[in-house]
Amino acid sequence: MSEAVPITPTPAPTCLVDRFGRVHTDLRLSVTDRCTLRCTYCMPLDARFKPREELLSFDEFVRVVTVAAGLGIRSIRVTGGEPLLRPRLPDLIARLVAVPGIEEVALTTNGLLLAEQAEALRGAGLHRVNVSLDALDEETFRRIARADGLDRVLAGLDAASRAGFERLRVNAVSIRGLTESQVVPLARLCRGAGFQLRFIEFMPLDAESGWSSGQVLTGAEVRGILEREFGPLEPLASSDPGQPAVDWRFADGGSVGFIDPVSHPFCDRCDRLRLTADGQFRNCLFSTTEWDVRGVLRSGDADVDARLVALLVACTAAKRAAHGIGEPGFERPARAMYQIGG
Ligand code: 5AD
Ligand code: SF4
Repeated sequence: MSEAVPITPTPAPTCLVDRFGRVHTDLRLSVTDRCTLRCTYCMPLDARFKPREELLSFDEFVRVVTVAAGLGIRSIRVTGGEPLLRPRLPDLIARLVAVPGIEEVALTTNGLLLAEQAEALRGAGLHRVNVSLDALDEETFRRIARADGLDRVLAGLDAASRAGFERLRVNAVSIRGLTESQVVPLARLCRGAGFQLRFIEFMPLDAESGWSSGQVLTGAEVRGILEREFGPLEPLASSDPGQPAVDWRFADGGSVGFIDPVSHPFCDRCDRLRLTADGQFRNCLFSTTEWDVRGVLRSGDADVDARLVALLVACTAAKRAAHGIGEPGFERPARAMYQIGG
């Protein structure tokens, strides 16, 4: 469903604050819905993708980001699908880095194409890279991703390190009955290589509606597995309140992060908005409403920027207090993760 929005609220707004006082400074851009993998928690095996002409162009993304920066957006995360499938992505990164007001541009990738592109991305000025990696055992990787590629992800991480990306992050989705055996090996790899590891609880955003609360391997359970191997973990005070991850310290140094959207929702601290690859604003992963940015961009009207401001303001104003997973009346969004952007 798409919302119609009247033009320019007066006086012109300067920041994106919602009904609950949350100020939005982070915009996630999905640049494609295509992917080299078919992770069970994100995509169906027979995914159908948007025709190219429905995806926003680089000019369109930059225009939206420029308007958003004028409303206080400071950090951009480029996602997908798999963003490195979008041809000439480093060109877009360089343009986003140059938008006045934008302080950080980050990328979330599955890592398969990272080895080839790490240098170019670094050269484009990309600040941070997150690599999604749930398993270090080939069989488990294949069961989740429904494709091969573990060796390429590891090569991608290595190349990103060598290209000079610091604080490389590894995101691992935790699924009961599937990823328990991967927890310790992932921690060993990341501690050894200096990657920041974060475990993410499985959310109901899979395309095949297979999610059930019983499949959520919680952050607390993952911590239990880590503690049996590495000794007690201690929570660290969060330095960035907008960060959903809570970091815990190992007794012998180093830390590990937990994003627990199901067992410990962090909606009260959410500062994110999203733009899908086909040009729709969303105010939440679990949003059931979208605001049609592409229609405005391609309207040919003289007041496109003013209408984009109005869309951003309306999208922010309509944000709900919380996603409500597990509560009565919770409604899964009509689109799956790969169509929204992580
Ligand atoms: N639940 C939790 N995390 C998910 N991701 C994709 N789908 C889901 C889901 N249903 C993760 C990816 C990636 C990030 C963008 O979101 O693994 O790390
Ligand atoms: Fe691709 Fe990421 Fe979705 Fe896996 S989670 S299918 S890597 S977009």
